[in-house]
Amino acid sequence: MSTLNKLKLYGFGVVGQGFQEYLAQNENPKRLHTIIVKDAGKSRKKVDSIIETTNPYTIRDREVFAIIELISSVQDAYGLVFENLEIGKNVISANKKLIAENLDLFIRTERSSGSTFLYEGAVCGSIPIIRILNDLFAYEELRRVKGIFNGSSNYILSKLFQDDLSYEEALNQAQELGFAEADPTSDVGGYDSLYKLIIATVHAFGVIIRPEQVLNVGIDAITKEDVEFAKQYGLKIKLIARASRENGALSLSVLPTLLDASSELFNIENEYNGVVVEGESIGTHFYKGKGAGSHPTGAVVYADLKALDAGYRYSYHKLDQAGDVFIDDEEVTVLFSAETPFSINKLEVEFSNLIPLDAVGKRHLAKIKLSELRNNKHDIQNKGISVLAVDTDVIAKQLIQSYRTTEILA
Ligand SMILES: NC(=O)c1ccc[n+]([C@@H]2O[C@H](COP(=O)([O-])OP(=O)(O)OC[C@H]3O[C@@H](n4cnc5c(N)ncnc54)[C@H](OP(=O)(O)O)[C@@H]3O)[C@@H](O)[C@H]2O)c1
Repeated sequence: MSTLNKLKLYGFGVVGQGFQEYLAQNENPKRLHTIIVKDAGKSRKKVDSIIETTNPYTIRDREVFAIIELISSVQDAYGLVFENLEIGKNVISANKKLIAENLDLFIRTERSSGSTFLYEGAVCGSIPIIRILNDLFAYEELRRVKGIFNGSSNYILSKLFQDDLSYEEALNQAQELGFAEADPTSDVGGYDSLYKLIIATVHAFGVIIRPEQVLNVGIDAITKEDVEFAKQYGLKIKLIARASRENGALSLSVLPTLLDASSELFNIENEYNGVVVEGESIGTHFYKGKGAGSHPTGAVVYADLKALDAGYRYSYHKLDQAGDVFIDDEEVTVLFSAETPFSINKLEVEFSNLIPLDAVGKRHLAKIKLSELRNNKHDIQNKGISVLAVDTDVIAKQLIQSYRTTEILA
């Protein structure tokens, strides 16, 4: 084995261990020279690598070919990724928050130093969506990329619909089974999906957007009543991340969404992820796979390593073209609901259309700009009102029609 081929792995948790096992099955395990962890006192499985807790973050060792960054801390990972790219070392990471917040800098750094930065494991676990978007669709006029990008919230939503659990019960179960973190905010608040959407958008549309510019609503305000309501119409609620392009204008959102059985994403359950890609020439593509976990993510991180070995780097073809403009004044149809009747006018948001969906004022269907929703997100949440996007006009018409029929019958 070439001595210039050594690897350093930072982080030996869920993904780090999956990566190490995958590597050991496929090549000399000693290539993974050093594994750096945080807690010296933790008992660990025996491996062929040296396990250290103190290691400089900037790796000037000429024999080290790549740094594999799989640590849990975004703050520590920043220096690790940035400083090594800056001195010309190759880096692989799966840290979506870090990447979504700093991709602009990382791309400039890798380009000026000649290093390579790969991160397939950061978006949708085992679905190779970054390489599909970057390589296969580099020249395709894409119209839309949307999907279920977070396995933890999808697991919780599946339990709400299949087992009639409350949100809290489903969250507890997901945590016990290791599908949700002890602090679930990033997953259930829609942030994790948002970071992945930002990264996918760079490759799909060539635009780098700051996470804080995009509306993200999570699943944490969904009630049993919302679930019952959806079921009544044969609908499901899924947390959908979506980037759409029309006339050169790009619009992004993460919203819990009412879907019907005609959607490719309707039957994605539990910890699975699904991605729909629509383009002018390619039509509609649909990908499904495990969205997280030790081996599904470890396998994709290993695929990044083999790509690095073969001299691969992302072309960022669309980023180098005159890019699209990001807007968030796209109008969407949403359902506002609360367990008790509420005055929709107290929300102080502008609607272009507002239709009550019951006689008591618990549910209203509205057409509203994404920017209006984003600016008033906290006010809406503080008033205990849940927001569900409505996937298609067909669903909106179905809901309106059904209420009108009930009214007439009453
Ligand atoms: N879990 C998934 O399914 C999944 C999927 C896709 C992407 N990711 C991303 O992959 C990364 C790793 O996630 P994970 O689930 O494997 O995390 P994890 O199980 O919590 O493991 C984190 C590892 O990082 C180590 N660590 C933390 N701070 C460190 C530091 N400053 N220096 C060196 N090591 C440090 C920890 O050391 P100790 O062992 O000593 O505590 C631990 O080994 C995260 O960015 C995550 O967002 C995870």
